[in-house]
Amino acid sequence: MDDHKTLLNLREFESAAAARLPKMVFDYYAGGAGDEVTARTAHDAWDAISIRYRVLRDVSQRNLAVKVLADDLAFPVMVAPMAFQRLAHPDGELATARAAAAIGAGMILSTMATTSIEDVRAAAKGPLWFQLYIYRDREASRALVERAERAGCTALVLTVDSPLLGRRERDVRNGFHVGPEFTVPNLTGDPRAALAASAAHGNPHGRNESALARFVEDHWDASISWSDVAWLRSITKLPVLVKGVVRGDDAALALDHGAAGVIVSNHGGRQLDTSIDSARALREVADAMGGRGALLADGGIRRGTDVIKALACGANAVLLGRPVLWGLAVGGAEGVQHVLQLLRDEFDLALALTGCRSAAELTRDLLSF
Ligand code: FNR
Ligand code: LAC
Repeated sequence: MDDHKTLLNLREFESAAAARLPKMVFDYYAGGAGDEVTARTAHDAWDAISIRYRVLRDVSQRNLAVKVLADDLAFPVMVAPMAFQRLAHPDGELATARAAAAIGAGMILSTMATTSIEDVRAAAKGPLWFQLYIYRDREASRALVERAERAGCTALVLTVDSPLLGRRERDVRNGFHVGPEFTVPNLTGDPRAALAASAAHGNPHGRNESALARFVEDHWDASISWSDVAWLRSITKLPVLVKGVVRGDDAALALDHGAAGVIVSNHGGRQLDTSIDSARALREVADAMGGRGALLADGGIRRGTDVIKALACGANAVLLGRPVLWGLAVGGAEGVQHVLQLLRDEFDLALALTGCRSAAELTRDLLSF
């Protein structure tokens, strides 16, 4: 499993993973909603921003570290919450956690992980946040929050762009399902039993339906509203970040309802197709927040220069999604670490060539839109 050593960039990891993963799994990871317009344009939108670099600024010493809420990151990248990582590699989320901790990136663990919060926490010491969806069964949500707190997660991420699951045609066509050999141990109560039942029977509805979409429709609560952000705040001492915001007014509402931060994201184009790219939404959100609360962004981050642009727009850090799964598929923990290292090294080089020595020096005048 060390063929990944010859790969030079995050794109090359995608083709290597495509050659290795079963089609149903690759399609679930890579795919987006509808015509996959947003999934395709996310990276191009970062490319469309140009860097007005400065020269002659002594960049011989650079410091890549940032602090996000209470957590120190060695460079401004966290692994995005992504479901079902054991479909990519037997070590799944444990490998991701070890790789992230080894290089000093943070990790956000998905509710839909194939490994328990406790096991992921025990696998590595790095910053670990927990992502959750609100279930119709509020006690199941409350139990999850308590577990994340007890395990030692340092923040909660409430994903709000998914009252229903986007229609991903690849998954419908492939009859996407999670096989009986996998469990989703962070779910409790009714949702856990329901997912286990559908997993145990493969896809009970046959091809032409995504078992995941059916599960989400039955168990996630499409009625959630801003008052639920306040509810979540009321049942936890942990800071709550709201993930899936693309508008300044929504970001302001998130802060008004007690959120400690906002993650600009359209869920990797997996929810509402043709939704605005994060690269285009970020400035408006940063302006609306005016430095109050933590601001992160994801979607199409594939190059160090993308990280430069997100920070210069006002983000404190970015989340990296699919390339982590490609690293996992190609080389387990080592593969993920290689992916993160490539991004870190590209960021470091781009920082120097931009004329900056630290994240704090990345300001908006460095960009041309
Ligand atoms: C996701 N994403 C996601 N988000 C979330 O809040 N909870 C989740 O369980 C998942 N699951 C998930 C699975 C897979 C396979 C993918 C690709 C994505 C969305 C994820 O956190 C992130 O917003 C995007 O993936 C970022 O875009 P890139 O980096 O993949 O382009
Ligand atoms: C996804 C869900 C699980 O994007 O968030 O597949």
